[in-house]
Amino acid sequence: MTDADRRYHITTFGCQMNKADSERMAGILDALGWHACNDPDRADLVLYNTCTIRDNAEQKVYSYLGRQAKRKRDRPDLTLVVAGCVAQQEGEALLRRVPELDLVMGPQHANRLGDLLEQVFAGNQVVATEPIHIVEDITKPRRDSTVTAWVNVIYGCNERCTYCVVPNVRGIEQSRYPEVIRAEMEVLGQQGFKEVTLLGQNIDAYGRDLPGSTPEGRHQYTLTDLLYYVCDVPGIERIRFATSHPRYFNERLIRACAELPTVCEHFHVPFQSGDDDILRAMSRGYTRDRYRRVVDKIRRYLPDAAISADAIVGFPGETEAQFQNTMDLVAEIGFDQLNTAAYSPRPGTPAATHPDQIDEETKRDRLQRLNHLVAIEAAERSLRYANRIEEILVEGQNPKDPTQVMGRTRTNRLTFAPGDIGLLKGQLARVRISQVRAFSLTGELLPVDDRQVLPALV
Ligand code: SAH
Ligand code: SF4
Ligand code: F3S
Repeated sequence: MTDADRRYHITTFGCQMNKADSERMAGILDALGWHACNDPDRADLVLYNTCTIRDNAEQKVYSYLGRQAKRKRDRPDLTLVVAGCVAQQEGEALLRRVPELDLVMGPQHANRLGDLLEQVFAGNQVVATEPIHIVEDITKPRRDSTVTAWVNVIYGCNERCTYCVVPNVRGIEQSRYPEVIRAEMEVLGQQGFKEVTLLGQNIDAYGRDLPGSTPEGRHQYTLTDLLYYVCDVPGIERIRFATSHPRYFNERLIRACAELPTVCEHFHVPFQSGDDDILRAMSRGYTRDRYRRVVDKIRRYLPDAAISADAIVGFPGETEAQFQNTMDLVAEIGFDQLNTAAYSPRPGTPAATHPDQIDEETKRDRLQRLNHLVAIEAAERSLRYANRIEEILVEGQNPKDPTQVMGRTRTNRLTFAPGDIGLLKGQLARVRISQVRAFSLTGELLPVDDRQVLPALV
């Protein structure tokens, strides 16, 4: 096998941070002369970038790994890598469980993939899970999209929500410098990207750990300052950010979103539970009332903004009445979208040892009832788009209908419209909405403005 034939495959589990890390690791492999390959069974290097947020996410990885470990027994030159959050959580224990592994690397080491592989090819089995200061990567990420891109602004999380493994596996908060973030966005703008999502597990913590402060030296640098600083990068028409924490979410940030034309009117602010006692047991640091006030404030400045969130049902000790408080909050607020999950006990987290674990059937039942309500609420929220003209950024084809293009409104609603992807990809287009569903919309394209008239549409 010559170097030119070396093929790698990456499968990514979990959240947007993992997706961003995978794109950087793919960029490193590209720079080393490897070729991307969709089929893990034909690759010479298989990398699983893993998630451990819930038990089922972790188990999925073991079943994928089992298959590759078996393949390696017939093909010893296959390189097997486990990266991401399961790698960090399990460390050397993973090598005992799957001795065929060549490299186990935590998320903080993503940018070091090249060095770590060098050690592997020198004949070592390598485990890289020690906490480190994240070094800036000089490799170009291999991005999945040519239209939208992730940009990390802060790694790690210093919160201690009692159910959550993220602080254990992602380490302490490390903000990137504003200049570095802007520089990355400028390159994206030059390459033709139109939308950037700024990423952090607790993005409101951005800047807390940066030395010094703003140039005037008056206050600590914050996410709001960052938005003002990056809002006018040439070519970047839309900026999103996630994930917000209700405890730190503030009015200055909402004002910035209302004021800055590139910042989209969508807020992802997980509330986790609508019950004050459960929120306290989760160590979330706010009450249901405080959460309500956050939403009220958003709607005062931006009445049409979309609000999405995450919620957990069946946290240890959760009574039916406490679950009802979550249902009531969801009904009261009317979320555009809600990611729901049944509580899953995670190793090394305080809630996992709580004596009052809820049985699986009750969790399943609550999850189903909540999901039902969410779908009704989302459908109701979608109604406001009927017959309206919305701006979408065309990202690709409708996977179910190639005669349609697919994009998102500024408020993040998935939208389809008949059109030619070859002509429209990466363009902002106006769509008159004709059909609304709970989580998506369909419409017809209109000319963007007087200067730019789109060709006749199918
Ligand atoms: N940093 C974000 C989200 C982190 S993880 C925040 O603070 O909200 C993404 C989501 O997974 C969480 O919002 C939570 O709803 C869910 N989650 C985390 N740990 C979980 C667990 N042990 N069981 C079930 N869901 C969990
Ligand atoms: Fe987990 Fe809480 Fe940090 Fe979010 S804020 S990543 S839920 S510990
Ligand atoms: Fe999963 Fe790690 Fe993200 S545990 S949700 S991939 S931070």
